[in-house]
Amino acid sequence: MAQTGKTQPTIPIPPRIRTTLIVNGVERELDASPWTTLLDALRDHLDLTGTKKGCDHGQCGACTVLVDGRRVVSCLTLAVMKDGARITTIEGLSEDGTPNALQQAFIDHDAFQCGYCTPGQICSATGLIAEGKAKTAEEIRELMSGNICRCGAYPNIVAAIQQAMGQS
Ligand code: FES
Ligand code: FES
Repeated sequence: MAQTGKTQPTIPIPPRIRTTLIVNGVERELDASPWTTLLDALRDHLDLTGTKKGCDHGQCGACTVLVDGRRVVSCLTLAVMKDGARITTIEGLSEDGTPNALQQAFIDHDAFQCGYCTPGQICSATGLIAEGKAKTAEEIRELMSGNICRCGAYPNIVAAIQQAMGQS
């Protein structure tokens, strides 16, 4: 085949960006690519693998963490956009190595089976309780609907959240 003599234009790779995250109360720095998600920053750069990757498309809630106290799906959040933010992951919720009240409620109510969704469920429920909007089991179900549990532990998860809210 005849050569055209044209060379393909090269697209420069954007430089990594120094990003500071306050993760579970500790200042952490990383050099993140502009496209690095908060989820990948936590898992692959900071070795905090408690936060799980499920769909990687914002549809399952497994990757839920708290950013400045608000629950977010970390797979749809770019790390560089959270420079300076306070991030709380499942590793940061226990108190001196002891499960906090919500974590203990999940244990008490056997609110998991495989456990893959559980870090996201607990971080999301932490945000839910802080929001103060859910008063009933129905409202808890509605406001936790972004967190999928393939094992179907939903009744136990709602019961655990109700216990942590002092409703049982
Ligand atoms: Fe983020 Fe599923 S991994 S929502
Ligand atoms: Fe298995 Fe929820 S406990 S997906």
